[in-house]
Amino acid sequence: GGGWCNDAPSCAARAGTRRGSTRLMSKLEVFSGVLSNDPARNPDFYNWNRVKLRYCDGGSFAGDSEFRNGSSVIYMRGQRIWDAIIADLLTKGLAKAEKVLLSGCSAGGLATFFHCDNLGELLGGVATVKCMSDAGFFLDVDDISGNNSIRPFFSSLVALQRELRRI
Ligand SMILES: *[C@@H]1O[C@H](CO)[C@@H](O)[C@H](O)[C@H]1NC(C)=O
Ligand SMILES: *[C@@H]1O[C@H](CO)[C@@H](O)[C@H](O)[C@H]1NC(C)=O
Repeated sequence: GGGWCNDAPSCAARAGTRRGSTRLMSKLEVFSGVLSNDPARNPDFYNWNRVKLRYCDGGSFAGDSEFRNGSSVIYMRGQRIWDAIIADLLTKGLAKAEKVLLSGCSAGGLATFFHCDNLGELLGGVATVKCMSDAGFFLDVDDISGNNSIRPFFSSLVALQRELRRI
């Protein structure tokens, strides 16, 4: 998870934080919930190979664009980050997986929807690939204020990060 950035100022602000750069992330990550290695807490997956894809592109691993205005350059490369991580994992054993579960929450839940079919295709129909979007379904409807605020938000996100190829 970690939300999105839908304009240059919000992406520039994230770029200087852990939400915009792996350099600023903590080096160690706690594996809890479905990532836990404790069979009492995570009976179904505790002994699976578990990988956490850390998120810093601001576009649910789906954008591919650059912003330039003379004084700033911002790269939004979520799709390339996804492609690179999966290519790396395939060589490290993912290609031999029999069962794969892709999951994420919030912006990662949306990323799960975006990439589920692609992961299934990459694994060539050999592995069983399942996907669980955890609180990642953002409805295109009016919200409690009576306005549809998600539509203009996602429109600006797609316009900025552009190549949301596989939506
Ligand atoms: C370029 O964009 C950045 C990020 O939004 C902003 O801080 C800066 O003021 C902009 N520069 C110009 C020349 O518009
Ligand atoms: C709903 O959208 C309209 C038009 O953009 C705006 O004038 C109004 O203030 C918004 N209402 C709320 C509660 O955000």
